[in-house]
Amino acid sequence: MMMTPTVQVAKGLEGVVAEATVLSDVQGQVGRLLYRGYDINDLANNSTFEETVYLLWYGSLPTRTELKDFTSRLAAARALPQSVLDEMSGWPRQAEPMEVLRTTVSLLGLYNPDRDDKSDTARRESALQLTAQMATITAAWNSIRQGRTPVTPRSDLHHAADFLYMLNGKEPDPEAAQIMDVALILHADHSLNASTFVARSVASTLSDMYSAITAALGALKGPLHGGANEEVMRTLIKLDNVSAVEPFVNSELDAHRKISGFGHRVYKADDPRALHLRRIARDTAEHTGNRKWFDMQEKMREAVTQRKNLPVNVDFYSASVYYALDIPIDLFTPVFAISRIAGWTAHVLEQYGDNRIVRPDALYTGEHDRAYIPIENR
Ligand code: COA
Repeated sequence: MMMTPTVQVAKGLEGVVAEATVLSDVQGQVGRLLYRGYDINDLANNSTFEETVYLLWYGSLPTRTELKDFTSRLAAARALPQSVLDEMSGWPRQAEPMEVLRTTVSLLGLYNPDRDDKSDTARRESALQLTAQMATITAAWNSIRQGRTPVTPRSDLHHAADFLYMLNGKEPDPEAAQIMDVALILHADHSLNASTFVARSVASTLSDMYSAITAALGALKGPLHGGANEEVMRTLIKLDNVSAVEPFVNSELDAHRKISGFGHRVYKADDPRALHLRRIARDTAEHTGNRKWFDMQEKMREAVTQRKNLPVNVDFYSASVYYALDIPIDLFTPVFAISRIAGWTAHVLEQYGDNRIVRPDALYTGEHDRAYIPIENR
């Protein structure tokens, strides 16, 4: 006789409060996001990526001297070991940039002799190196796969500007660097999203920071998580016209398929990061005179809202913003990682600081007490 389960499975861990954190507060009902108590809009309007990373790691906004010192330490840590670049140049050119990022982070662990040093100083140094190097790996791979020599990072540029510089081999104009910087601020942390939970779970076994971040990158890559921004842009390109948007939305929803860039586990109102990126997308469209993608996105948002009232999420407008910055589509998710490394490492440090191994239960729903059948009788 089948027993009726007395416990409910929290599918996808919905509603489960698995950790306490002081890092970010996602207020899903009202569409607000705070890092260390500061509204994301204030940070996007006034801060820089470097300052935001400092805030996440140390809990307060830096003084001018602290920020100067932190910015130069981060800039000094950007270069990759030559042997890592040599290794990368032998990889298949068609490898996905997210796979390359995941593999390179794992590889970089081998080059850090202090990776298993459990002191706070050594762990913070690993966090600094990883945060500095994520952009370098992404840009280097883009060069390598095109048969070009990777551009050496420039320590006189801010993180966002240096990423665009390494990507294109020329210094970005200030507006592009500013847009990139804001995008990095907006993606830096988001409480216990799937990849952060994965990073914390790995850290909870007292494994090293590189292993935790490698696992997080594997989680971010999926189309339900960070991979959604690439899907959004591919869909827009495929549709190519405002008039194709509504029929697409209707056919997808009729077929019960998900439309990338919409829906969220926590936000019931529009994602505040998406609204910020929407402003940038609109301003860019007006500035460049190319309204096509923005107009299609507005139409898509209207059509989805009419049919299902789903909130728009961060991956929706970041897609057209990155596209306008001439970033290749398959680098959109790596760009997410270039920012989210700040939050992942902050969470890993927080986990190490007050650790208990993550070990949830599962409800067993299989059979019991089966009699073993010798192989000759099966
Ligand atoms: N398009 C169409 N319907 C969607 C949807 C989307 N993007 N996102 C959610 N829904 C619908 C589901 O079909 C479901 O409808 P139903 O109750 O009629 O069956 C309902 O909304 C709840 O969705 P569910 O998949 O249970 O939500 P979740 O919390 O498990 O998943 C996401 C959250 C983000 C994974 C999900 O919204 C999604 O897949 N979005 C698209 C991918 C994306 O943009 N990811 C980036 C997130 S930042």
